[in-house]
Amino acid sequence: MQKPPITKSEPDETGHWSQFGGRYVPETLVAPLDELTNEFLRAREDPNFWGELNQLLRDYCGRPTPLFHARRLTADAGGAQIHLKREDLLHTGAHKINNAVGQALLARRMGKRRVIAETGAGQHGVATATVCALFGLRCIIYMGAEDVRRQALNVFRMRLLGAEVITVNSGTRILKDAINEALRDWVTNVYDTYYLLGSALGPHPYPLMVREFQSVIGREAREEILSATGKLPRALIACVGGGSNAIGLFHPFIADEGVRLIGVEAAGRGDSLGQHAARFHTETGSGGGQVGVLQGTMSYVLQDANGQIATSHSISAGLDYSAVGPEHAFLHDSERAEYARASDAEALEGFQLCAKLEGIIPALETSHAILPAIRVARELSQHDSIIVNLSGRGDKDVQLIADLQSK
Ligand SMILES: Cc1ncc(COP(=O)(O)O)c(C=O)c1O
Repeated sequence: MQKPPITKSEPDETGHWSQFGGRYVPETLVAPLDELTNEFLRAREDPNFWGELNQLLRDYCGRPTPLFHARRLTADAGGAQIHLKREDLLHTGAHKINNAVGQALLARRMGKRRVIAETGAGQHGVATATVCALFGLRCIIYMGAEDVRRQALNVFRMRLLGAEVITVNSGTRILKDAINEALRDWVTNVYDTYYLLGSALGPHPYPLMVREFQSVIGREAREEILSATGKLPRALIACVGGGSNAIGLFHPFIADEGVRLIGVEAAGRGDSLGQHAARFHTETGSGGGQVGVLQGTMSYVLQDANGQIATSHSISAGLDYSAVGPEHAFLHDSERAEYARASDAEALEGFQLCAKLEGIIPALETSHAILPAIRVARELSQHDSIIVNLSGRGDKDVQLIADLQSK
């Protein structure tokens, strides 16, 4: 039987989208998460909060970002007109700053002077260090040792901005392990510390709150495409790590049935568990992405056949995570959104194409969305349009690509 179309995607008051989301945390975090939820809900209704946020987004971050008609990529694909939502042009180089500014304002409202955050690709760490400098807050960033190695430039930037970067050597030394350490810090220092989480994941209210701060992407994109073409796009395409840039673009289009929402996960270097970060793709027998709990939220999580959390792999640190934000799990199961995959090699190809055809060097995370977008464009007519979220710029990845090319 066909599922009825989804016209909205809102969690209930416990932060659940159907079975997904919620709050699976130690007792000590329940009161601080309640306090955060209440403050966020109050701020959401406060025109002064939005006034200050919007002013900072405009004058400090550089919003609105343009929607760029990528004519040479379009010609290369042969099909729908490809438009790029230029989040790479924002201050600090990625969409992460939208959420960091919003949450820093909340931290200030709550009187917290110490801010902690996790980071994978380093973009969220840089964005957090930046807003902490702006507001005069102490900043501590947790980052896995493997990510410290592959995103060295961003580590240097965070330190220049006055943040303390703590290298995490536990587990597989990537994003998941950095979140574990940040949660540990929060449990210990909850009274004076604000945890500024960087993606649409974690316990309620983070998935909702991060989505609200990132939805500015979709609201702008909607207006921009309507003013450029007079009609809605046929598809939106965005890479999905935890899922914040994708949900930010998708959310204002949820009720527009004719607009396909396509998230792209990292297919890494192979189908077997441990070689990818494709949470919505289950391998028979050997485990894969299944419903479970990781870091405070219920969603699709990479697990082995015994239900143990499995490791992930992606060439891009920002997509290298074993779980996905709960709203994506809901959109997946309700069939409102689709989730494609792009391998490390395809991401590198997308990176080259975007650089050579459009003169835009995208982040490796973002690069995952390019080839799937070309495939979608090819299925459509030249009178149609699609939007790709260009979530960030690739300066941070240039050294890694140079090293790969010299091998
Ligand atoms: C440029 C860029 N795009 C995408 C991502 C993935 O995160 P999310 O899925 O939350 O947008 C990251 C994460 O660091 C990033 O730096």
